[in-house]
Amino acid sequence: MTRRRSVEDLRSQRWFAPQDLRSFGHRSRMLQMGYSAADFMGKPVVAIINTWSDLQQCHQHFKQRVEEVKRGVWQAGGFPVELPALSLSESFVKPTTMLYRNLLALEVEELLRQHPVDGAVLMGGCDKTTPATIMGAISMDLPMIFMPAGPMMRGHFGGQIVGSGSDVWKYWAEKEAGTITIQQWNDMEAGIARSAGTCMTMGTASTMTIIAEALGLTLPGATSIPAADAAHPRMATECGRRIVEMIWDDLKPSDIIDRRSVENALVVHNALAGSTNAMIHLVAIGRRAGIEVTLRDFDDFAGRVPVIANLRPSGAWLMEDFHIAGGTRALFKRLEDMLHLEARTVSGTLGAGIAGAAVYDDDVIRPLDNPLAASGGTAILYGNLAPDGCVIKPPAAEPRLLQHTGPAIVFDSYDEMSAAVNDPDLDVTPDHVMVFRNAGPIGGPGMPEWGMLPLPKKLLAQGVRDMVRISDARMSGTSYGACILHVSPEAAIGGPLAALRNGDMVTVDVAGRRLHAHLTDEEIAERLKSWTPPRGEYPRGYNRLYAKHVRQAHEGCDFDFLEGAGGIGEPEIH
Ligand code: FES
Ligand code: MG
Repeated sequence: MTRRRSVEDLRSQRWFAPQDLRSFGHRSRMLQMGYSAADFMGKPVVAIINTWSDLQQCHQHFKQRVEEVKRGVWQAGGFPVELPALSLSESFVKPTTMLYRNLLALEVEELLRQHPVDGAVLMGGCDKTTPATIMGAISMDLPMIFMPAGPMMRGHFGGQIVGSGSDVWKYWAEKEAGTITIQQWNDMEAGIARSAGTCMTMGTASTMTIIAEALGLTLPGATSIPAADAAHPRMATECGRRIVEMIWDDLKPSDIIDRRSVENALVVHNALAGSTNAMIHLVAIGRRAGIEVTLRDFDDFAGRVPVIANLRPSGAWLMEDFHIAGGTRALFKRLEDMLHLEARTVSGTLGAGIAGAAVYDDDVIRPLDNPLAASGGTAILYGNLAPDGCVIKPPAAEPRLLQHTGPAIVFDSYDEMSAAVNDPDLDVTPDHVMVFRNAGPIGGPGMPEWGMLPLPKKLLAQGVRDMVRISDARMSGTSYGACILHVSPEAAIGGPLAALRNGDMVTVDVAGRRLHAHLTDEEIAERLKSWTPPRGEYPRGYNRLYAKHVRQAHEGCDFDFLEGAGGIGEPEIH
């Protein structure tokens, strides 16, 4: 923040103020839309990036919320303009929204650059929409505030509380094992998603929105408010009021995000046992802001931050319970000795934002001396199968599998794996290590959430509910199990995972941070000599751009040409 700005300093004035032919055109076209000069002249123009669509179930309330954001902008003396952007439904977009995160980031950056706007409210929440809109806005570096969609209501069926994703996988395993009926399964389908809002477990959506709050990019406490709660439209309106002030104060992402805010995000990620997807997105967000975040950072912080949010899939409760227990501000309050309280936020400092916050339920948000896990929400493993690292979420795995050696059973495609796990004669034991490759950033493409490999039916029927599984894919934040993910470099570019064969012995040692095959470097190199890439080049289109420019998982999967901020002048107006 430098000084209070005047009207002449507003970027939008370049479009509207001059007495020339071009500005005549801009003003007359505003009048064409029914606005008067009093509506827009000399006012901060606020872009509201709206990721609503008819195929974005989690943002269905954004048609209404955008009006509430506008209300706040008007009240504070700004001029709101809604700019629709790619909606990236985690459910409907195939093969995976991750393929398109960078496209939304690029879209947000260019929407802000090309239009007469002075700042932005980013409306997102469903998984990739949070990092994507934030990445684009950081690169453009106009004042911005993130308005989270909020979690949906608790799910229920047959007297049971059920959580997005997590309980689907659990009951699917029961259905496959024949322990629940089709009728029960159908009842759950109708009861698990009951309102607008994002997945209400501690999946990628809530992980990333709460990380956004830790980075200082939301109003205090905004991220735990359920979408259907009346506090949510009030928060949306406050976002509208606040962004106008931020524009006058010229409070930009580059004034807010620094190493302190990133470290706050790392603390919070671990306290939540947050989604492994954060390990890609926070690296990418950091790189946009010019701050290096590495996988080792995640491991360092995991070593000293206890898991205190008792939320599924690692714990018991859901986001609505978390909000009632005090919500995000209460969680941060409990972590305050580990946080940089002087770190900047959209509304002041992190410390000021949590003043007076309290926890109302010590089982949902645990005291530091009675955590869900004393440390280790996530662990980073290295070894001859993953020289650049891979990720596991130990609290979500059966403890016996955290130190394990077994023979590999290797799959090269999803179809091959699906057929095998349904085969009653599959030669597999609970000690086998299932490996699925060619599902990384380029192999997938887009690194789909295929990393929670389905367990073989034969073993499910025997009561087995977890096995060691290794892939270069991601997994949904609502998933669980001894799944080792994000193996880097990926198999599709000739990473060592490509050299593995059925029967090779593989050792996982989470305490020792090791993942290795019982093969020598020479054996791996020799096998890779005869390796050929599993898929040819894309002839054209977005997939071609993506495959040429995407970084590997440990580097955040951004496009090489999108990292960083600034460096591009304002558009010429002629
Ligand atoms: Fe939108 Fe999970 S599907 S947050
Ligand atoms: Mg998800």
